[in-house]
Amino acid sequence: MEGESSAWLAGGPGGADRLARLIPVALRALASGVAERGGPIPSGGPAAVAALATLAAAGDPGAAGDDPPGPRLGGAVDAGSGEDAPPGPGSGIAGQPGADSGPAERAAGSAGHPRPVDKRGSVAGFGRENGTLVPGGARGRQSGRDATDRADPAVECEFAGAPVAPDGSGAAMPASGLPSPRPESSAPATGAGLPLRGVGAERALEELSTLLAAGAADPADPACAAHLHCPPLAVAVAADVVASALNPSVDSWDQAPVAGELERQFTAGIARLCYPSAERPDAVVTSGGTESNLLGLLLARERSGTAIRPVCGENSHHSVARAAWLLGLPAPVVVACADDRMLPAALADALTALDGPAVVVATAGTTNTGRIDPLPEIAEICRRAGARLHVDAAYGGLALCSPALSGRVAGLELADSVALDLHKFGWQPVAAGLFATREAADLGALTVRAEYLNADDDTEAGLPDVLGRSLRTSRRPDAFRMAVTVRALGVRGLGALVEHCCATASAVHELVTGHPALRSWGPPELSTVVFRPREADELPGPAGDELVARVRRTLLEEGTAVIGRGLLPTGPDGSPQRWLKLTLLHPHATVAEYRPILDAVAAAAANSVAVRESPVAS
Ligand SMILES: Cc1ncc(COP(=O)(O)O)c(C=O)c1O
Repeated sequence: MEGESSAWLAGGPGGADRLARLIPVALRALASGVAERGGPIPSGGPAAVAALATLAAAGDPGAAGDDPPGPRLGGAVDAGSGEDAPPGPGSGIAGQPGADSGPAERAAGSAGHPRPVDKRGSVAGFGRENGTLVPGGARGRQSGRDATDRADPAVECEFAGAPVAPDGSGAAMPASGLPSPRPESSAPATGAGLPLRGVGAERALEELSTLLAAGAADPADPACAAHLHCPPLAVAVAADVVASALNPSVDSWDQAPVAGELERQFTAGIARLCYPSAERPDAVVTSGGTESNLLGLLLARERSGTAIRPVCGENSHHSVARAAWLLGLPAPVVVACADDRMLPAALADALTALDGPAVVVATAGTTNTGRIDPLPEIAEICRRAGARLHVDAAYGGLALCSPALSGRVAGLELADSVALDLHKFGWQPVAAGLFATREAADLGALTVRAEYLNADDDTEAGLPDVLGRSLRTSRRPDAFRMAVTVRALGVRGLGALVEHCCATASAVHELVTGHPALRSWGPPELSTVVFRPREADELPGPAGDELVARVRRTLLEEGTAVIGRGLLPTGPDGSPQRWLKLTLLHPHATVAEYRPILDAVAAAAANSVAVRESPVAS
């Protein structure tokens, strides 16, 4: 029965209707914020972004002054008043029927972009001035100052943290235009602070969703290519809404009956994908590669005891050494690599030199370059030495979905355990980690009893015991959106997206090799393109590396591109040198969309050298 008690709920009777009213508000704000940003990341760097997040609320026209028709920042909100007002005329979204498109909006807006406005038609969004993202453009700043001036201190500053009187001095918005990220008053940022009274669901969603989108590093923009940070598929995000509304927690059967069963089926499929011919493989859901690598070492320790020594390549992810530290194991023995791949002979030597048990961590898709260790040889060396093998395939594992690419990760099935991340290739929102073991029994190490979650008598009576399928207790049904995605695309559909990224990376690498101002590190094995401005090679000592870092920061601060960096042993005598990288995880982007990024790198390098050489610059 729907009553007052369910007025704010996403689930229960009426829950879907409430979501159907709110989600369009959030989505319009999302689109509006994306349009406002107009690039992969907001320009201006951390100071501009901190100011944006602070001023968006400081400039909140509903915080004080004339009574707006909707709930006010400082005013008490009666539950439901914000959400009950249907979007539509007067809903405060520019470009929607009823939204004000008067002078304030025109003054603030960059041409053609819809801009969110508050219920009175004042600008609640952002604009670019001299290439820098600012709250609401010129008018936004002004309205922010007006709002601060008008604010009733008792209302405006009633935060759950230390109350801070507004000084109205504009400390947060000096005449220079870019406020200090940490105002001297140390006032809490108002954008997502802890107001004592709410503004209502629609308005909160509209304001903060616009802000989040306008200030995001957006992996759906091909120029956002620094990290193994994928743009999620719409189908996965839509599935996540359903999961969030129902909020199954997969730590006990009675909180998640079908979610637990779907997870069981999905993880069984993943286990079979990794271990096509094993007798009893199994897999569990994790929060990502970090947790999976921890599990890999944990299960090894549980099998062989605390004397076990981790052994990993120079190319391994930092989470391997961290897992060893966390588990009380000795620091890993680090094995030499060539071309960012573990050297089998060096591994054999390292294992021979150890006199106790060992767990080797190999990598299928390194963080810096996407290289894949020679897994069959490594597995054979481990077998002969009696060492356990865990493969960190957080990046490369999904190559298994493509008949054309699966050969690149051949040997994965020889590992005792495997880490896979579907928030890399897999196009899931974070978190979507998986950990597979050849022997289901190994996961018995995670067994734990808690009277309130998996009492013995409940298990004996037939209630599935799911608590031991994770190190976590409460946990989201992340397998649900993974399962929906694979059901939508099929394993082969996912594989085709992996193929697209790898093929695009090869084509971008060709562009690099043909570019007069860039030097390639080498052809990609997965979807990472590593390169360096030639100018960096011509500078003496550490100046080349400094140039590389400066180029990356320049593009970041301009809001032009988000590109990665990494150290590789290409300097004299194998000393580390700094490289740039594009990690291509955009499943639809074309090679033409990456050419301007390469040109921007070349231009930034040339410019940086010119500035450095200018007598004025010193
Ligand atoms: C090879 C490798 N392993 C593990 C991780 C950690 O994964 P997560 O961030 O999902 O914990 C990463 C992250 O990029 C990675 O590149």
